[in-house]
Amino acid sequence: MKTFKVAVIPGDGIGPEVIEEGVKVMKKIAQLDGRMQFEFTYFPWGCEYYVEHGKMMADDGIEQLKSFDAIYLGAVGYPGVPDHISLWGLLLRIRKEFDQYVNIRPITLLNGAPCPIIGGSKETIDMLFIRENSEGEYAGAGDWLFKGKPEEVVLQTGVFSRKGTERIIRYAYEIAAESGKTLTSISKANALNYSMVFWDEVFEEVGNEYPNVSTYSYLVDAAAMYMIKDPARFEVVVTSNLFGDILTDIGAALAGGMGLAAGANINPERVYPSMFEPIHGSAPDIAGKGIANPLAALWSASQMFDFFGYEDIGEQLLVAIEKVLEEKTVLTPDLGGNSSTTEIGDRVVELVSALIESAR
Ligand SMILES: NC(=O)c1ccc[n+]([C@@H]2O[C@H](COP(=O)([O-])OP(=O)(O)OC[C@H]3O[C@@H](n4cnc5c(N)ncnc54)[C@H](O)[C@@H]3O)[C@@H](O)[C@H]2O)c1
Repeated sequence: MKTFKVAVIPGDGIGPEVIEEGVKVMKKIAQLDGRMQFEFTYFPWGCEYYVEHGKMMADDGIEQLKSFDAIYLGAVGYPGVPDHISLWGLLLRIRKEFDQYVNIRPITLLNGAPCPIIGGSKETIDMLFIRENSEGEYAGAGDWLFKGKPEEVVLQTGVFSRKGTERIIRYAYEIAAESGKTLTSISKANALNYSMVFWDEVFEEVGNEYPNVSTYSYLVDAAAMYMIKDPARFEVVVTSNLFGDILTDIGAALAGGMGLAAGANINPERVYPSMFEPIHGSAPDIAGKGIANPLAALWSASQMFDFFGYEDIGEQLLVAIEKVLEEKTVLTPDLGGNSSTTEIGDRVVELVSALIESAR
């Protein structure tokens, strides 16, 4: 039996509520499946920690996390702590220090999930976004000159290295080649005349190594429109950090809302731990009420099973999530129901247990 060490950072607001369900489901699956077990270690980092200690995580936090196989994160951010501090002090720090340069965001409309567009179905909304996660517009490079003076100037520099651009584009080509799907690159070379011209060139160059992958290239503004008007044209998609951040929120809306959107931050070389998280925030408006939708957190747990090499379990967990949506008997208020976070977790445990038993 394999033991996986998982660092759990529940974080703020609804983070701990949804992560508790994820841990519950993972423990139950491990117990039933018998091939793996998990050792969960909790870290109290986040905004409350910041208020007490003046920092989002321990000084040696990165060192403490290094030896884990994966990190399971809830959400960070809370009123009273500026968002740029909570984001840069924890989430972005982990992504950068652990070179988690691939952000994988599945955007699939599961059966039963609500969709805001007419004709939306699992067949038409089924995309896999591969977002660059380490540099680009979120490199943190820039300057703030003449602060407070009339001639004040701020510079936010987009950083696109050859190494960083090539590796994310190659990763996406590999996924498209393996899955036999088309690959779409989203950029903006007409306006961003250095970074995105370079991006497009690299996309074409790397593409020469994958003659069997059909490719498309869109400007980000057109892509935003097509995601709504004709989502079926997108299968595997690769894009920069900022564009990916924005477009995947459109994707989240298409595929049932924030309560269903999961993400994985991957260090493909596995030198450092990868991090799995629901992509929603701490939702201060519903925190503490026990009504947060845990399905996004559970979907990210499914991604973790895939990452550990148990794709069969990842798939079964996703099927269980879909069944909950189809049954419509146990749903949280964001999906039109009146069940609690715990009730959803319990129902997923029942469904996934039945699936594992019947697959024996
Ligand atoms: N990855 C992260 O940790 C992350 C991501 C986004 C925002 N944040 C932080 O979270 C805080 C709140 O941000 P926000 O309000 O812009 O975004 P949010 O995702 O927290 O909430 C947006 C809306 O979606 C709803 N919602 C989100 N997740 C839900 C769930 N699981 N179930 C039911 N409803 C859900 C909320 O109730 C709210 O109405 C901010 O401090 C922000 O910086 C953190």
